[in-house]
Amino acid sequence: MEKIFNLKVEDGGIGVATFDVVGDAMNTWTDKAFLSFDELMGELEKTPGIKGLVFISGKPDNFFAGANLKMIADIEKADDVRKMLDLFHGSFARLNAFKYPTIAAIHGHCLGGGLEFALACTARIAKEGKSTLIGLPECNVGLFPGGGGTQRLPRLIGYPALEMILKGTMMPAAKAYEAGIVDRLVPTDGDLLAEAKKLVLEINAGTANLKRPTHDFSQIDAIAEMAGQGILKATKGRYIPGPTLALKSIHEGLKVSLEAGLALEKANFVEVVLTNQAKGSINTFFIKGMTDKPKAMMTKGFQPKPLNMAAVLGFGTMGRGIAIDILRNTQIPVLVKDVPEALEPGKAFVRKILDGMAEKKRLKEPVDSIMGRLTAVSEYTDAFKEVDIVIEAVFEDIHVKEQVYEELCKAVKDDCIIASNTSSIPITAMAKYVTHPERFGGVHFFSPVWLMQLVEVIKGEQTGQDTIDNLLNFSADIRKRPIVCRDNAGFVVNALLFPMLIETFRYLEEGNAIEKIDKAMLAFGMPVGPIRLTDEVGIDIPYKIFKGMGIRQETLANVVEAGRLGLKKSGKGFFLKDGTVDPEVLPLIGKRTTRDLTPEQIQEGLIQAMVKTGNDLLDRKVVDDVRMIDVGMIWGVGFPADKGGPMKWADLTGLSKQLFGKNFYK
Ligand code: NAI
Repeated sequence: MEKIFNLKVEDGGIGVATFDVVGDAMNTWTDKAFLSFDELMGELEKTPGIKGLVFISGKPDNFFAGANLKMIADIEKADDVRKMLDLFHGSFARLNAFKYPTIAAIHGHCLGGGLEFALACTARIAKEGKSTLIGLPECNVGLFPGGGGTQRLPRLIGYPALEMILKGTMMPAAKAYEAGIVDRLVPTDGDLLAEAKKLVLEINAGTANLKRPTHDFSQIDAIAEMAGQGILKATKGRYIPGPTLALKSIHEGLKVSLEAGLALEKANFVEVVLTNQAKGSINTFFIKGMTDKPKAMMTKGFQPKPLNMAAVLGFGTMGRGIAIDILRNTQIPVLVKDVPEALEPGKAFVRKILDGMAEKKRLKEPVDSIMGRLTAVSEYTDAFKEVDIVIEAVFEDIHVKEQVYEELCKAVKDDCIIASNTSSIPITAMAKYVTHPERFGGVHFFSPVWLMQLVEVIKGEQTGQDTIDNLLNFSADIRKRPIVCRDNAGFVVNALLFPMLIETFRYLEEGNAIEKIDKAMLAFGMPVGPIRLTDEVGIDIPYKIFKGMGIRQETLANVVEAGRLGLKKSGKGFFLKDGTVDPEVLPLIGKRTTRDLTPEQIQEGLIQAMVKTGNDLLDRKVVDDVRMIDVGMIWGVGFPADKGGPMKWADLTGLSKQLFGKNFYK
């Protein structure tokens, strides 16, 4: 078996165990790593004369990034979780049994199971520097520290461990030193191994002076009660197993011996690993990673076109937002074109949003210098010949777009990339208005642009792959999270959202109250209920889209025809300012039948509506990869991250098998 841990005992009796999961970018705990660690323990137990042991990573900038999440996500049986935990805990117990000091010499990420390993050592020494990050972030991926972290960290640093574990806080070396997690710091240019060996000698000589305060946990009941309320507040009352079971392990574990506490932690960890929410959260972690770096989504070896100047057509709601994101995230000068009366209000709006960001210290340069890169014009100037990329965000009217593209193509150079932000006009239909359809595609932003991470990058029938790659590169530059899809009514996000809304209004017309439907979806974890969402985006929008699909949705038609376009849009919609339902809207609800649904039936029905469309998008190859749909729904409409996206959730709950006889994820 390939060895991950390699021991070398030096002349003075100090053992140095170097570890490296060769071939992986980061060290993670896998079965192989546990077995190699176990072998090392056996070797050490047989080696006489050792006076101390230093663990150090063979990788340049990584200690241990934690347990391998893929391995954890794949576990399906409680017995298999127990087996893994027995290996983990058993190895650490053997480590604890050595009479000589054991030192974790940390550089790079020391997270999760990595920190738990370090906590099982006698002491920790960490090298300062950008890459060193220390913490127990498991609660952020639907789990909690199950390798002793919930027991060893509070016993080492006291109550602050609760927040660190429940919030998954990660900190640089100096902060970990202040918190009492790390015993010694080594400067960036220092010799970590030499300092670690020195620490062994100091501990053996009794001069190390390690801080090991005795903590008083008599107030743990009250502290745990408060922490529990904090969890509920953060989850808006929803049960999230990771932090809840972490808190239970800490609370109960601190009242008993370390050994008994570790046993409690193990039992709770078995429970958490098998929950759909843990598996959903891990999926979200992976699909986030996939889209965190859009440049990695480009065709391998692709050399993106340098972008030296950008233009935005339309200085309305979307044009302003798109300009803001190009300006604040890049150094590219931006030309915006609209009618003369739109220019000053547009610039004032951009400045207002940037001022707000500056106040919150979110900008790297003064607002004036950012604004210096913005030029707003009402005519095509010579400067358009310098433009490398144009984002069109004019009125959603194909005749307006036709005219705009014809004029634009005369004003820009031949190799300029052009993308539309349309929400409903097919990219392929507009391609006939541009001179180079291969350099024309879609980038669909979400509103408000500067707050929403997602963009849909759309490939029309004639769009070239290099244009898609260039648009991915542009998305990376302006710090967006892209998904790639082919031309389709509603692309991905709206394509899934609208069937869900059709179902919502059907339930409403079957006699289910607005409040009941919205509440059911809030309880599922959606950030807003579907009827409030309709009110907020403007009731006329789904009304028009349904109309375009040949559907006359009676309630929406009645409400819109009564002049109620939504509280924000026209002052009247489904809701009043205080958040309650406006009684005036009730007679406008088209009623046909009565079918009293439970919250679970509402949730199931609305998720089914999304998943059926998702399946259709895969069948029609609108997307090549199911993960694009889940990324779109999590970052485009706030589908709950702990459920991993609608398609993953359908796999986890058995809905995919029930509806289509297959799982979407391999
Ligand atoms: P808007 O009505 O706020 O702004 C459109 C702007 O285009 C106006 O300022 C108008 O003066 C300008 N305009 C019209 N004709 C023009 C021309 N020939 N040359 C230059 N400017 C011209 O509309 P909004 O909401 O910004 O929508 C723009 C595009 O973005 C539409 O295609 C829409 O479907 C799409 N979109 C809208 C979203 C939203 O939430 N509002 C979300 C995603 C896409």
